[in-house]
Amino acid sequence: MKPLIVANWKMNPASLADAKKLFNAVKSTRTIICPPFVYLSALKASGSQDCFWENSGAFTGEVSPKMLKDLGVEYVILGHSERRRYLGETNEMIDKKIKACLAAGLKPILCVEKPEQIKKWQDIIIAFEPVLAIGTGEPFDIQKAKKMRESLFGFPVVLYGGSVDSKNASDYIKKAGFQGLLVGTESLSAKEFIKIAKAVDSVD
Ligand code: PGA
Repeated sequence: MKPLIVANWKMNPASLADAKKLFNAVKSTRTIICPPFVYLSALKASGSQDCFWENSGAFTGEVSPKMLKDLGVEYVILGHSERRRYLGETNEMIDKKIKACLAAGLKPILCVEKPEQIKKWQDIIIAFEPVLAIGTGEPFDIQKAKKMRESLFGFPVVLYGGSVDSKNASDYIKKAGFQGLLVGTESLSAKEFIKIAKAVDSVD
């Protein structure tokens, strides 16, 4: 299987025009782009950064798995550390979201820092994201990352996320044994993101 590259744009860019520009520049890389909800439909992107756990009802401001599925979304990032930290998401809430996504035919990408956060789940994509490496420009040590990958042996697809750039991208696949990458900051630069996709494509 070719490594999976997921772009987490977070709350960027600030306009639909810029989102279109960035999307058009990187779409040939065949990666999973996760823009903010408001751009999903215009871009026809295949990934979302979150979703709610019910499919409809009185839940002001929320977006349901069914709505995402209807737009053609395939993958949903869940439990990102920024949502746990700023929005108070708990493992219980995230569990409900995973269940709802699976029921809607979406593929959840569960972000975790510790294996304990996932013991109930099988057959989902995991993203190992050490918080100290997220958005800091200080990628996690490759040997420690390799140990973490080994400890998650029950999961066929585990991504690494945290300060991934074009220089370290292939090491997380080749040396640490991950099946793909979750890229934040560097996914906002078309040039860097394309370099990351190329670096990973050259991994045999
Ligand atoms: P980063 O973010 O690449 O900016 O460290 C990764 C993430 O939060 O998914």
